[in-house]
Amino acid sequence: MKQFKIIPLLCVLVCSNSSLVSSASETKTASRQRISINDGWHFFKYESGAKSDKLIYDVRPEVTDNNDSKAADSQPTEAIKTESAQNVLKSWILPTGNPFIKDPTKRYTHSAGNPGGDFPFVQSNFDDKAWETVNLPHDWAIKGPFQTGSNPQVGGGMGRLPVNGVAWYRKKIDISAADAGKSIFLDIDGAMSYAIVWCNGKLVGGWPYGYNSWRVDLTPYVLPGKTNQLAIRVDNPNYSARWYPGAGLYRNVWLVKTNPVHVSQYGTYITTKYVTTSSATINLETSVENKSNKSANIDVITQFYSIDDNGKKSTQAVASLILSQTKIAAGESDKLENSVIIDNPKLWGPSPTQKPNLYVAVTTLLSNKKVIDTYETRFGIRNIEYNPDKGLLVNGEHVLIKGVNQHHDLGALGSAFNTRAAERQLEILREMGCNAIRFSHNPPAPELLELTDKMGFLVIDEIFDSWERKKTPHDFHLIFPDWAEQDVRAFVRRDRNCPSIIMWSFGNEVGEQYTGEEGAQIAARLRSYIKEEDPTRPTTGAMNYAKPDMPLPAVLDVIGLNYQGEGIRQDPVFEGTDRIRTAPQYDPYHLKFPDKMILSTETASAASSRGVYLFPVSPKTSAPIRDGEGGDSKICQVSSYELHAVDFGSSADKVFNALDHHPFVAGEFVWNGFDYLGEPTPYYEARSSYTGIIDLAGFKKERFYLYQAHWRPELPMAHILPHWNWPDRMGQITPVHVFTSGDEAELFLNGTSLGRKVKGVYEYRLRWDSVRYEPGELKVIVYKNGNKWEEETVKTTASPSQLTIETDRSEIQADGKDLSFITVKIADRNGLIVPVANNQIEFSIDGPGEILATDNGDPTNMIPFPSQTKDAFNGLCLVIVRSKAGAKGNITLKAKSAGLTSAHLTISSK
Ligand code: GAL
Repeated sequence: MKQFKIIPLLCVLVCSNSSLVSSASETKTASRQRISINDGWHFFKYESGAKSDKLIYDVRPEVTDNNDSKAADSQPTEAIKTESAQNVLKSWILPTGNPFIKDPTKRYTHSAGNPGGDFPFVQSNFDDKAWETVNLPHDWAIKGPFQTGSNPQVGGGMGRLPVNGVAWYRKKIDISAADAGKSIFLDIDGAMSYAIVWCNGKLVGGWPYGYNSWRVDLTPYVLPGKTNQLAIRVDNPNYSARWYPGAGLYRNVWLVKTNPVHVSQYGTYITTKYVTTSSATINLETSVENKSNKSANIDVITQFYSIDDNGKKSTQAVASLILSQTKIAAGESDKLENSVIIDNPKLWGPSPTQKPNLYVAVTTLLSNKKVIDTYETRFGIRNIEYNPDKGLLVNGEHVLIKGVNQHHDLGALGSAFNTRAAERQLEILREMGCNAIRFSHNPPAPELLELTDKMGFLVIDEIFDSWERKKTPHDFHLIFPDWAEQDVRAFVRRDRNCPSIIMWSFGNEVGEQYTGEEGAQIAARLRSYIKEEDPTRPTTGAMNYAKPDMPLPAVLDVIGLNYQGEGIRQDPVFEGTDRIRTAPQYDPYHLKFPDKMILSTETASAASSRGVYLFPVSPKTSAPIRDGEGGDSKICQVSSYELHAVDFGSSADKVFNALDHHPFVAGEFVWNGFDYLGEPTPYYEARSSYTGIIDLAGFKKERFYLYQAHWRPELPMAHILPHWNWPDRMGQITPVHVFTSGDEAELFLNGTSLGRKVKGVYEYRLRWDSVRYEPGELKVIVYKNGNKWEEETVKTTASPSQLTIETDRSEIQADGKDLSFITVKIADRNGLIVPVANNQIEFSIDGPGEILATDNGDPTNMIPFPSQTKDAFNGLCLVIVRSKAGAKGNITLKAKSAGLTSAHLTISSK
């Protein structure tokens, strides 16, 4: 087993022209290759209900309770014990995690034999021509169909999509004869789930947890100069999650070829110390692996470059480090450490008050002056203080966390990762004033962290929703005993150079909140893994139940509260409930832990359906959802007056109030940014959530403007709700609310003033609750500090008469990945969007692009996402168009709808 030795600081150079360095670019091609192997996989999934092969990772307990609509805050229960059968593959898979097990005596040895070796799907000569050809990232379930009705196999909790089952991916890869002697790895950024890899009929290894990135070493199995056969089996259990997990090889997959002496997987670790604007000390740890059978004498050079706004690295290195003549014994790994000072560093900080400046460290290994490996590490230089009384200080500036939680699916694209789709989400969140994301409740795609680094979002990177105790019958608790250490260390090691990450969360509302000291011991063990991998960042966990005097919170470096800050189920309707009922907890926690920073890892869980308004309107500022009170279980929709939350949650207004009363709290992560697939509380007949501030299609709900008003007080804005098309409400009370960054406003209905109102202290909206409906025009004039600040009007529209069309970007890359998000609106003859129009629209496309998906953001819509026909939902519909690789030209999207004037739009693919 590998021993790490720490080699102390040898020399510190600030130069870029040593003779060792100059050879770096000359022989670059001789070093590492990281090749995308996303295209051209052959895919097969066993029919649902059909018998699959027996090549399972481990036996799973039978599901006795298939109720998937349990409230999120139900108490997790003890795991059901199952005995592994003899013929499971677990013991061949466990060694894949060895690099992440610290104690060498606990690492696994490879079992003898080659299970599955005689199975047809792993053979090179198996004829898979009849299998579907797919490109990765691929989510087999997203195309549907949705499983409707009251007794589906996959229920509302997991999105009513066919995620469950066993599937195979096969691909032939050419390994050239010149690759003989190289190390060859398969890097998988995420496979859902229980992935097992065979190469040329030999079982290589695998990784059960679907959200982590992992690597298998193909070197002993590949045949250089030949076509090699990869076969990957994934097994996605039903009841594995409280949300839609996606299915298959849903992230990028890479082939990595290196010299046998190379920088290890996630082999660099950069930390910064003594950070000021005039200088910063950069500490670099580099792990070098020697997989050859003789010892290696190498020079290790790392050059540091700044990265400009376009992502280009500076021509001159800003600093360099050289470690000369380092000896790495055959079969060993060494950890080398040294540091350097960068003068006048450009600091990384969150937008908008700071700039997310980045650097890249290019590490070159040389043997006899010949480059044998190059490895790049993106990093940032920043100084973060986690202050128990002031909250978060980034580079000395107090930054209030205005965050949201985000699940990993990308709406109609499912879990198949797409960088542009993720970037669009971040852009919309940024427009709202959001500066932080908690990746709930699992590690994101690496490219998403590249985006948060570049765009300057603060991030909580989180790994688990459950430990030993279970929330759903087949969730992570099944593998926790065997994989907790490997998963935690792999997660931290992959992401620890990302400047956007401000802390690690290792659990969300885990059942161990309820198990006293025993639970706290597990927490302490997990925390120690994290601290060993990254001592520089604090850890947290999201607690919806644990109280200050319980053992678990004491283990966490930062107190993460879910809903407890505002108090849970404090409304009198909950008196006598057997569910969690908690008085507000910010003060008790602050008192008990005066040295720990507190933040709300989850707030709100407020719910609404875009464009749906239900009457009567609650006079409260925050209320639960019931029929006739914010909800309608017949149509499965929640009102957009934005006053209602799930039973344990609170409206945005109530959360703002609690936070404004507790300035020591570092801020909040709202549950949640975008609607996600699955968990459609309170209506499990639906397919997707109601708690997003933005709907599944990316259309803004009213809540967007409530947050924008509060989070961007400097932005002049005013937003009126509801819409003003209420022919059935003539003369009836139809409250009008205004979300604005101003402090005072006057509302007019058809020119008549309905009064001027001032926002009270701890009030976050202006409400005119006794307006009687008459058609026409609502207009609000908003003031701030006595001066006119903004105005806004809403008009009653005529009936639908035309389609209008617009895109987020009219020029996209012809790379087969880039997307154009096209919004089609139903408008009246004057071009006003008809806010109640649900007309069916048909889409068609010409040119080098394809319609990937359509959506309208309605949580109850069961038309499959790839359908080219969709009803608008309250005036809007979305079409996602993808370019074709290498095919440049104009793409025209046409939209037509019976009785309406059609619309079309052209985008260019370059
Ligand atoms: C929280 C939970 C989230 C989500 C949310 C829904 O308790 O941590 O994962 O379930 O409730 O309201």
